[in-house]
Amino acid sequence: MSPTKTKGVSQARILRQPHHVRDLSLAAQGKARILWADRDMPVLAMIRERFGKEKPLRGRRVSACLHVTAETGNLMRTLKAGGAELVLVASNPLSTQDDVAASLVKDFGVRVYAIRGEDRDTYYAHLDAALRHTPVITMDDGADLVHGLHTTHTRYAKGIIASLEETTTGVNRLRALERQGELLLPVFAVNDAETKHLFDNRYGTGQSTLDGIIRATDILIAGRTVVAAGYGWCGKGFAMRAKGHGADVVITEVNPIRAIEARMDGFRVLPMAQAAPIGDIFCTVTGNMHVIRPEHFLKMKDYAIVCNSGHFDIELDLKGLAKIAKKIEKNVVPFMDRYTLRSGRRIMVIAEGRLVNLGAAHGHPASVMDMSFATQALTSEYAVKNAKKLTVTVHDVPRHIEEYIAHMKLKTMNVSIDKLTPEQKKYLASWTMGT
Ligand code: ADE
Repeated sequence: MSPTKTKGVSQARILRQPHHVRDLSLAAQGKARILWADRDMPVLAMIRERFGKEKPLRGRRVSACLHVTAETGNLMRTLKAGGAELVLVASNPLSTQDDVAASLVKDFGVRVYAIRGEDRDTYYAHLDAALRHTPVITMDDGADLVHGLHTTHTRYAKGIIASLEETTTGVNRLRALERQGELLLPVFAVNDAETKHLFDNRYGTGQSTLDGIIRATDILIAGRTVVAAGYGWCGKGFAMRAKGHGADVVITEVNPIRAIEARMDGFRVLPMAQAAPIGDIFCTVTGNMHVIRPEHFLKMKDYAIVCNSGHFDIELDLKGLAKIAKKIEKNVVPFMDRYTLRSGRRIMVIAEGRLVNLGAAHGHPASVMDMSFATQALTSEYAVKNAKKLTVTVHDVPRHIEEYIAHMKLKTMNVSIDKLTPEQKKYLASWTMGT
């Protein structure tokens, strides 16, 4: 996949434009996809209806750096209904759905700067546009806006009420900033909410990662050996779904507790060096760098398929792979590059080592993003309401928000649950009863 060069379009010119998307004539298809996703996002739709009446974000400038998908489109509609003045930019150069970006501009009046396949300069020019919007609330998927607010654009940090972070990798970065005493603004670890990671990371990544692999390769998963690097929530979801398709799943881990968990969940656990020669498909979901390196690539079977579903494109050492390859063929089939090693063995890399679920498929399904984005919407409302009280720390999403979303989701799924009896409540609150 070659990057989209915005040749002749200088950074300054991008910044002067009210939006920067590939082609506004794609809007009709984008709108149809946004509305189709909306059918499966009932909790967010309820919030949007209330936001439309109450306008809790009236006149607040919000900059969002998220994957520009149909589901994100519905979050943008919700924030806009709440009165926010919005700018949306991509959180990954390969994840933008150009039709959705076009529709958000044309049909929903959102300022979007995002083009699928944008080159590095354009990506950073878009981030710059989001920061120059001088937001009071930011939403990140991977901490790029927060990074800008702590490096190139520190002058805007003072005006921020709160920054909301969607993903594990981003939260790790925010906690590192906090530990080093360098955090400049209040942040909410939206990823850590149970209404987010238990469902989005596990069922969303599980399904969409496999979807990306299947769309790119068209291969049967049954009977293959699938190596999942990492057994966090995303890795668990992916392993579970690969097993469901009939794969022989091997887990690699560095965390001994997660390794036990993987073993007791019925998976083989091996170091990558031992998994490399037996795997047919490899997928990294660790959040760390260079998990699969030249020493591993050299041991792989001919036509091993390799991809990544962690946030950044650093989990596969592709520079190292390029060094040991005698030939690299880009896009030999859509979404896949072929690296031929000196031994003659070939390694197929999906989506340039970027998020396979968004690079080669459409990301998590709407039903799971419903909860993630309901959490984002309600946390932004909470932040605005409590702006004066927020300390410059990493905050958890308030429990009442999670409980509200969980109850609403159950209701829309037509699932009822029991209530604690007064006796049970008393028992849970005491340490002497019933012993
Ligand atoms: N991250 C993973 N899947 C996504 C989706 N469908 N929309 C936005 N962000 C995502």
